[in-house]
Amino acid sequence: MKTPGLAAIQALAAPDMAAVDALIRRRLASEVVLINQVAEHIVSAGGKRLRPMLVALAGRACGGGGPEHHQLAAIVEFIHTSTLLHDDVVDESDLRRGRRTANAIWGNAASVLVGDFLYSRSFQLMVELDRMEVMRILADTTNRIAEGEVLQLLHVRNPDTDEAAYLDVIERKTAVLFAAGTRLGALAAGADAAAQQALYDYGLQLGYAFQIADDVLDYTADADELGKNLGDDLAEGKATLPLIHAMARSEAPVRERLRGIVENGDSDAMAEVLAAIEATDGLGYSRGRAREYAEAAERALGRLPDNAAVAALRGLARYAVERRS
Ligand code: IPE
Ligand code: IPE
Ligand code: MG
Ligand code: MG
Repeated sequence: MKTPGLAAIQALAAPDMAAVDALIRRRLASEVVLINQVAEHIVSAGGKRLRPMLVALAGRACGGGGPEHHQLAAIVEFIHTSTLLHDDVVDESDLRRGRRTANAIWGNAASVLVGDFLYSRSFQLMVELDRMEVMRILADTTNRIAEGEVLQLLHVRNPDTDEAAYLDVIERKTAVLFAAGTRLGALAAGADAAAQQALYDYGLQLGYAFQIADDVLDYTADADELGKNLGDDLAEGKATLPLIHAMARSEAPVRERLRGIVENGDSDAMAEVLAAIEATDGLGYSRGRAREYAEAAERALGRLPDNAAVAALRGLARYAVERRS
């Protein structure tokens, strides 16, 4: 089947996504006014809703779908949104989804606490499904995400962060949630173990590709289009793949200079860092790595019988590395 582009994929998923969005809106509510304000601020800004779309499409790929999938999709998006609220505090970011971040408007405490609200709301939604296997997968996943965030913290301002350490962090902080989403879509559709594994593998590889692409965009995107500020990673002293590659490939004097910049989280040195990344083709290298993961994701789908939803998942693997926002 022909691999569709993003617009066709969104059209295919639209009925499911409308149901997911309605559910998200309904289950966001709290009696506490500040929770509604903060949660509404970030959720109404939209976001790509990629993870819930993956849950729905994985279900359709296995011949299933419906209310249980919509609930799983909402759970995964709530978990994602809570990590964004926390991440923007940790990264001291002030722009997200084209809006000022919650921490910039209401402060760090409110952001962290409302993030906790969304997190625990996702667990309430999970319990309603009353399936131990689902709870096990999501409990393990959220635990791994938390490990990833802490591991990343340990690498901040550490110039010895290498590609292996970087991949370890992005697997936990990003890829496992993609993998859990696609696996749960398959599980809830009643798919067999092999199909569940194929969709898990797809999600994991896609998650790597997606995060590497995000880290390239932090250096290259148009901020308006991205809806986030550029250079947040460098400002925080976070060495991501383009810079890790530049540090590994530069001659000693430049390498020492880059190491110093990472140690100091020196965002004023952006031009210098970009020059070193350019000289070592750090962006080309990173985009190539992202493409390799996206291709591995597509290969995992080859283990499933082809249908429109499988083709859409293939399309999302391509979109993940070609996107501009
Ligand atoms: C941002 O995720 C965090 C990363 C894992 C890079 P998205 O780029 O999916 O964020 P939204 O939901 O579309 O805003
Ligand atoms: C993704 O890392 C963090 C999460 C998984 C929440 P980033 O720090 O790169 O995400 P953005 O760029 O702020 O969205
Ligand atoms: Mg961030
Ligand atoms: Mg980023």
